[in-house]
Order: sequence, then structure tokens, then C-alpha cells
Amino acid sequence: MIVCHCRAVSDRAIRASIRDGASTLEAVCTATGASGCCGGCEPMVSDILDEELGTKSISSLGTCRPLRLVKDPRAA
Ligand code: FES
Repeated sequence: MIVCHCRAVSDRAIRASIRDGASTLEAVCTATGASGCCGGCEPMVSDILDEELGTKSISSLGTCRPLRLVKDPRAA
């Protein structure tokens, strides 16, 4: 699957770069060329990095949106 459409970088290439030692988002992007243009693929590259390393990076946490609390209409 193509992850970075600007640079035609696949998830396989990203995973290979991680297995070859890239352990940060910046290192993966440098190794593959991903996220070097519009940056739209950066969250997905970060998610793949997290998945491969079994971690959750600061970058991914930064994209989280605060939850809006909604009152349960069934609650009295
Ligand atoms: S989609 Fe990756 S830099 Fe634009």
C-alpha cells in the first residue's frame, strides 16, 4: 500500500527502513523520502513506526483530539 503519495513510498518500504534501524520518525522519513513534501502522510508513517516498535510516539499523541463529553440521555 502506498503511504506517501507525493513520493510513492509504500508501507513495506517504511517497515523495511525500521527493520534496518530507523527508530524515529525523522530517520524513517530520511531513509524513505516519505513526508518530504506535503507532510500529509506523517501521521500514517508515525503509526507504522509505532506499530513496528510497539510504542506510541509523541507525534501520534499530538494528533489526538480531546474527547467531547456527551451526557448519556439514558442516565437520570
Ligand atoms: S503524502 Fe507524503 S509528503 Fe505528501
